[in-house]
Amino acid sequence: MSDFNKYGYQILDIKDSFIDSYIDNDFLNIHESINDINEYRLGLISKFNNDELHKKIAQSLKIELNNLLGPDLAIQRSLNATVQTPENDEGILAEHSDTWCGNSHYEIVIWVPLTKCIGTRSMYVYDLSYSLSFWKDYIKGNKKMSDLDRNEKKYLEINPGQALIFSPNIIHGSDVNKTTETRVSLNFRMKNLFSPYGDKDLFNYFEVFTRSSVTELSQSFLRCMK
Ligand SMILES: [Fe+2]
Repeated sequence: MSDFNKYGYQILDIKDSFIDSYIDNDFLNIHESINDINEYRLGLISKFNNDELHKKIAQSLKIELNNLLGPDLAIQRSLNATVQTPENDEGILAEHSDTWCGNSHYEIVIWVPLTKCIGTRSMYVYDLSYSLSFWKDYIKGNKKMSDLDRNEKKYLEINPGQALIFSPNIIHGSDVNKTTETRVSLNFRMKNLFSPYGDKDLFNYFEVFTRSSVTELSQSFLRCMK
């Protein structure tokens, strides 16, 4: 059983060297030289999307993604990025599951740090078995969010050059970065092309990334039949 099946998340190495050119040690102290962090963040998002960085990452993780999702893959059209400066509560996400906000239960989130992530500079998760038992009690009305057992909260230690893959079903979030350095990370979602969609649909939010040989053949056959 993979870590993903066991815990609802897994950390993988991005083996291709392209990622090295996006890892910048200056990110750690960027809060000292940039006044408008949000404008800076939007600039990074624009550059990364122009480079189709999320597709390069997905391509380098293709074997693992095929194992998790199958050969027919949809990818989020545009990646998102976070710049989490020290002692700043903007952009903090309290404990949540992405399925609350209309995301499909069938997606995975790929979260890629471009700085070393440790302690509150990282994101945290509650693993699959705890998340599942908590949600069961929550739905029955036996527990509130304030009843979450903070001892189960795990800040993930992840290095640049690695990717965290996690299920949007598990409880996760981020806290105020209490370290002295900034975190830069990006994220995007992937799913099986033919799995159920939430509010975020194919074509507007996702696009086709790869198709199996059978899907490709069948779709071109069906196109010719029209
Ligand atoms: Fe989330």
